[in-house]
Amino acid sequence: MAAPLPICWLNGEFLPLAEARISPLDRGFLFADAVYEVVPVYAGRPFLFVEHIARLERSLGEVRMAAPMARAAWAALLTELVARNGGGDMYLYLHVSRGADEGRNHALNPALAPTVFLMAAPLPATDPAVLENGVAAVTLADQRWARCDIKSTALLANVLAKSAAADAGATEAILLAGGRLREGSSSSVMVVHGGALSAPPYGPEILPGTTRELALRLCTRAGIPVRIEPVSEAALRGADEILLGFATRGILAVTRLDGTPVGSGRPGPVARRLQELFAAYRAELAGTPLLPA
Ligand code: PDD
Repeated sequence: MAAPLPICWLNGEFLPLAEARISPLDRGFLFADAVYEVVPVYAGRPFLFVEHIARLERSLGEVRMAAPMARAAWAALLTELVARNGGGDMYLYLHVSRGADEGRNHALNPALAPTVFLMAAPLPATDPAVLENGVAAVTLADQRWARCDIKSTALLANVLAKSAAADAGATEAILLAGGRLREGSSSSVMVVHGGALSAPPYGPEILPGTTRELALRLCTRAGIPVRIEPVSEAALRGADEILLGFATRGILAVTRLDGTPVGSGRPGPVARRLQELFAAYRAELAGTPLLPA
């Protein structure tokens, strides 16, 4: 993972990331009492801005925090942060914690001012070998909390799952519970059977993914059948294709699951088509306003 870009934004000011400081009493630090977003930027333009801010607003509401600013202010801030970091392609990390308290108190203090932190980082480079060969994934039992629909920074179980995948030489850990697919440690997971794309229904156990939503919309537009249905472990293992969707990497094909080839063992036609559709959609959005008028 490349180092972040130099300029961040913390509580109202732009400053060098190396100089940014928060209190050790910040509830984000002590309790992971914080929510976040990761927004990709292509050619200087934040991608799926409204979808990301809407999800952030929902996460904030679910943990009883107020939105620190309106959408127009977010749009201006993100645009300025991108420009101050030289524009082009990158991703933005947005983090809202409940703020620093006078001590370590579990119960909420509604009077606290939130800590709002944004930084920018280079998008992970897409290795041509990854597009050509796909990536490996492993399955693991989901050990996360019961509200994975909230994009909380309490990611310890995700961190451990991703690290177990890395130890096994894999890119992602695909989490299962009760014999069913949930999602990846940092991605949505979709499967293809007989040319149709399936994804599990949303609920408190998975995050509504912006990349997954766009993938489903673009499939529908392209005439690829889409099904929202529970995906059993057997259906995952027997899939023609397994796709990962995440904001920083778009759509990736999983071609080995727990060491066994998925389908043909090569990225399949739906993965390839979606990668093309995403590129075309990015080009379609170039130069359009972030917020509808
Ligand atoms: N993760 N599920 C989980 C658990 C995630 O952490 C993510 C994204 C997704 C996909 O959501 P989206 O398509 O909106 O990125 C699904 C980001 C990239 C992260 O934590 O870095």
